[in-house]
Amino acid sequence: MADWEHRPRCDEAPAWAQLAQEARRFTGEGAFDLRAAFADDAQRAQRFALRAPQVFADLSKNLWDEPVRALLTQLAEQCRVEQWRDAMLAGERVNVSEQRPATHVHWRWAPDAPTSVENCATDAINLQETRRILDDMLAYAEEVRADAAITDVVNIGIGGSDLGPRLLAQAFAATAAAGAADGPRVHFVSNMDGHQMAQTLRGLRAESTLFIIVSKTFSTAETMQNAASARQWFEEQGGRDTARHFTAVSANTEAAARFGVGRCFGFDAGVGGRYSLWSPVGLAVAIAAGAQAFEALRHGAREMDAHFASASLADNLPVQLALLDVWQRNFLGFSSRCIAPYHHGLRSLPAYLQQLEMESNGKRVDAHGRTLPFASAPVTWGQVGSNGQHAFFQALHQGSDVVPVEFVLVRRAAHSLPGHHEKLLANALAQSRALMLGQEGDAPERHFPGNRPSTTLLLPDLGAASLGAVLALYEHRTAALGALWGANSFDQWGVELGKRHAGDIADCLRQGSSAGMDASTAMLLDEMHALPSV
Ligand code: F6P
Repeated sequence: MADWEHRPRCDEAPAWAQLAQEARRFTGEGAFDLRAAFADDAQRAQRFALRAPQVFADLSKNLWDEPVRALLTQLAEQCRVEQWRDAMLAGERVNVSEQRPATHVHWRWAPDAPTSVENCATDAINLQETRRILDDMLAYAEEVRADAAITDVVNIGIGGSDLGPRLLAQAFAATAAAGAADGPRVHFVSNMDGHQMAQTLRGLRAESTLFIIVSKTFSTAETMQNAASARQWFEEQGGRDTARHFTAVSANTEAAARFGVGRCFGFDAGVGGRYSLWSPVGLAVAIAAGAQAFEALRHGAREMDAHFASASLADNLPVQLALLDVWQRNFLGFSSRCIAPYHHGLRSLPAYLQQLEMESNGKRVDAHGRTLPFASAPVTWGQVGSNGQHAFFQALHQGSDVVPVEFVLVRRAAHSLPGHHEKLLANALAQSRALMLGQEGDAPERHFPGNRPSTTLLLPDLGAASLGAVLALYEHRTAALGALWGANSFDQWGVELGKRHAGDIADCLRQGSSAGMDASTAMLLDEMHALPSV
């Protein structure tokens, strides 16, 4: 076993017990109060602010103080997070259950690693080959953009083969970035529910549509079903040249070739689905916004990689966010985290983070198979803050559970409509201020307890570099949190069982039977069999 595999898990590190002692100051009578903390320390805001490429982070409105932060930083030291980080960046097999490296970072480095990253394991990464594939992919994206005959592109994929590209395509479209206005329309179909595909196909014409089938494994049931339906529709509409109208992105190039695609962009199995948008999985993004924007995105991410690789633990934004996650989840007991982006282009950020965080760290055993004696991934949820304010923010202010909120703000708007953006930003700052300050009420229902935690991430704009940096920040924070918890953030065995059951139940539905099912599932199947299906 490599040395980094013998690191202490967070609960085995000496700082863990000390943090448990400190946590007593945060509950009950006379507990830590944010208002008092700010009154006692005129420098608290600056002390708990961090800068990383493209991101300014205000962590001061969280329920922690200097002694806690110092102990958390010691925890990261004692768990040898830096050693694990270097192993991950160097291409060692940090995905131990599948014996693979996590190579997503290498896709944004090619052809060279940032100078702050040393000792790349050359057997895991061929940066020259990676660059060649990216060049091919980007040239193809530009070809499609220049092809006046292609008016619509449909990205067929699910999970990581959908959420990252969808988020980015929406962000680029909202800001009309670079070439986002010149390319074809880009649609995303992920759902097994045929209504999504049927609705997307309405209004499309076979001869002017390009389908991109994106699947690392090229075996995911939803994607295979949608791909088959797209091909059937294409043929029924009189489409002739399947090879021209169907392109694949996959690590399983043989299966893609068998489907009959004309082009297939491959990538290595070390790229995890939810970390894959930097690889050819980002093809729809490159088509939507252009090769230059895709390169700028990679560049922004690479800057964040360099920060993660070289900043001290105390100044390292991904590491400090991961440590704050440990504190909030394991010591303050918060079971969910709300993401509130204040930008229409980031409306899919909560969904993207749900997969990134909950699929990576929703684990009950560590990487050695030992049951975790502490809670792992909280529920990540949320939606654009402006709309959330008129839906669930009531519960954030006055509900019985404390939910840390992550505000994501963008300083510069990409539209020129007067009034909107100042009011939008004012609302975001007002919410974090109100959550913290609370208010005495003249009636119980008008009382706001305050002392409710939040983090604010501020980006200068929603350009490609900021997007790249903030998504790389989230990736590193997630994996660093897994490293502290001792979990493997790069596998996802938990999704397998449901897939197996779905196959058996689909057989029952086809055959009109419920044999072999548990009583509840059998009852539901029998009800379904009794109802007309068309
Ligand atoms: O079911 C979970 C999952 O395996 C995700 O990890 C992945 O992003 C998604 O399915 C899609 O997988 P693929 O790209 O292989 O179709």
